[in-house]
Amino acid sequence: MRCQCSGITILLLMTSGASLAFNYVIRSIEDVSGANKYDNITISNLHVPAGIPLILVGLRNALVTFEGTITFGFKRWSGQLMLFKGNNVTVTGSPGHQIFGGGERWWDGYGVLGGPKPKFFEVRLNHSTIFGLRIKNTPMHAISINHSNNLTISDIVVDSSEGDWKGAKRTDGFNIYDSRNITIKNCTVFNQDDCIAVKSGTDLVFQNNYCSGGHGISVGSVGGRKNNIVERVLVRNNIITNSFNGIRVKTVKNAVGRVSNVTFQDITLVNITDYGVTMVGNYILERGVPEGEPTGGVPISGLRLMNVHGTVNGDGSNFWVWVKNATNWKWQTNVTGGNKVSRCEGFPSDMDPMC
Ligand SMILES: *[C@@H]1O[C@H](CO)[C@@H](O)[C@H](O)[C@H]1NC(C)=O
Ligand SMILES: *[C@@H]1O[C@H](CO)[C@@H](O)[C@H](O)[C@H]1NC(C)=O
Ligand SMILES: *[C@@H]1O[C@H](CO)[C@@H](O)[C@H](O)[C@H]1NC(C)=O
Ligand SMILES: *[C@@H]1O[C@H](CO)[C@@H](O)[C@H](O)[C@H]1NC(C)=O
Ligand SMILES: *[C@@H]1O[C@H](CO)[C@@H](O)[C@H](O)[C@H]1NC(C)=O
Ligand SMILES: *[C@@H]1O[C@H](CO)[C@@H](O)[C@H](O)[C@H]1NC(C)=O
Ligand SMILES: *[C@@H]1O[C@H](CO)[C@@H](O)[C@H](O)[C@H]1NC(C)=O
Ligand SMILES: *[C@@H]1O[C@H](CO)[C@@H](O)[C@H](O)[C@H]1NC(C)=O
Ligand SMILES: *[C@@H]1O[C@H](CO)[C@@H](O)[C@H](O)[C@H]1NC(C)=O
Ligand SMILES: *[C@@H]1O[C@H](CO)[C@@H](O)[C@H](O)[C@H]1NC(C)=O
Ligand SMILES: *[C@@H]1O[C@H](CO)[C@@H](O)[C@H](O)[C@H]1NC(C)=O
Repeated sequence: MRCQCSGITILLLMTSGASLAFNYVIRSIEDVSGANKYDNITISNLHVPAGIPLILVGLRNALVTFEGTITFGFKRWSGQLMLFKGNNVTVTGSPGHQIFGGGERWWDGYGVLGGPKPKFFEVRLNHSTIFGLRIKNTPMHAISINHSNNLTISDIVVDSSEGDWKGAKRTDGFNIYDSRNITIKNCTVFNQDDCIAVKSGTDLVFQNNYCSGGHGISVGSVGGRKNNIVERVLVRNNIITNSFNGIRVKTVKNAVGRVSNVTFQDITLVNITDYGVTMVGNYILERGVPEGEPTGGVPISGLRLMNVHGTVNGDGSNFWVWVKNATNWKWQTNVTGGNKVSRCEGFPSDMDPMC
């Protein structure tokens, strides 16, 4: 049977759930509802009013492009400024676009302790790509990757460098939760907290990125959440500069979970002020600090450091290791310059402590 009636064809397309092949432009927050029926959505010079998140859910086979200048109103609240959810979605920005988080209005030197602040952008995207975004001054965390699978993120610049003198805290670049097969490459982050933090997830790649001003690249803290498993992570060919730490693994004290097969390879550290390489098993989630004897319920196994090299400032420490229940580690490092001696306990019994 052949249908020659275009009206019926459109009906069939719609009932089969395919997106409409028309261009749709969001210029005001009122335009957002219904946008997910389209396969080409442009967010153009949008001002998002205070306290209203920009939510695009149910995206399917869609291209979403930020164009021009995107800004957000100011309100002290938790939640996030943007949330995108969908399948087979490409998110990008056209040349010259800028997404201004306006974080300086929230920054108070205290992070979350100074009162509620929104996270910037949460994505729950499967089989999708995000590339070429230019983001400035996030109130707190920049990009949260949550329940996502098969997602590739590249060429993102998060520049919250003004926060260095304007009191920014907790301005993490990327956080990964409960996700699988995520690649983050060729991104640049200027911030004041983790460049990337993996809370849970498997088959993750973080490569060819530049991290400046923050707390370095972290796996963790792992433990005490719903998903407490991190497996198969490759952190390769990244530069970490002007940062508090270089690379870290943090597991939560009195929690259960596991961190398996994490590799840090070809990592360059420059001007690390406090700790070059940190592995701690006694992180206290509520207070965000390590404290007391590690408990070993989140064992770290298969931890490989290959060609991790660079310098720590004179009054910092090259290494700080305090874990329990570690197995099958292999380290090849050349981290020098730090004169402060920190604790160095819990290496696997078959390995010479590296500090
Ligand atoms: C998407 O729509 C914009 C105009 O809003 C247009 O410039 C662009 O070519 C379209 N892209 C595709 C892939 O259709
Ligand atoms: C994904 O979306 C693109 C359009 O953006 C489309 O061409 C492609 O067929 C979709 N892939 C699948 C598996 O649906
Ligand atoms: C992504 O895939 C996961 C696992 O298949 C599924 O649970 C989740 O609902 C999907 N998310 C979206 C937005 O489709
Ligand atoms: C991820 O990709 C794999 C391999 O292509 C595929 O089997 C799986 O269904 C995909 N998962 C999602 C949620 O798209
Ligand atoms: C991840 O998604 C869950 C809902 O499935 C939500 O409760 C949680 O707050 C989200 N996490 C982040 C960090 O956005
Ligand atoms: C991982 O995701 C990519 C798309 O980002 C996909 O091409 C690949 O097949 C996925 N691999 C697995 C093992 O799921
Ligand atoms: C990497 O990102 C820079 C900008 O941050 C961009 O100019 C360059 O084209 C990107 N390279 C690749 C290979 O994607
Ligand atoms: C080293 O990094 C710190 C920030 O962590 C910064 O204040 C300082 O200016 C940097 N030093 C150099 C020489 O770049
Ligand atoms: C970790 O790597 C080892 C050695 O390659 C392998 O035997 C083990 O199955 C891996 N474990 C996970 C959880 O990927
Ligand atoms: C050490 O890890 C193993 C799993 O690798 C676990 O069975 C054991 O309970 C852990 N030990 C402690 C003291 O938590
Ligand atoms: C270790 O790094 C220092 C400078 O950071 C360098 O002088 C030295 O040659 C390196 N050692 C090795 C064995 O590569």
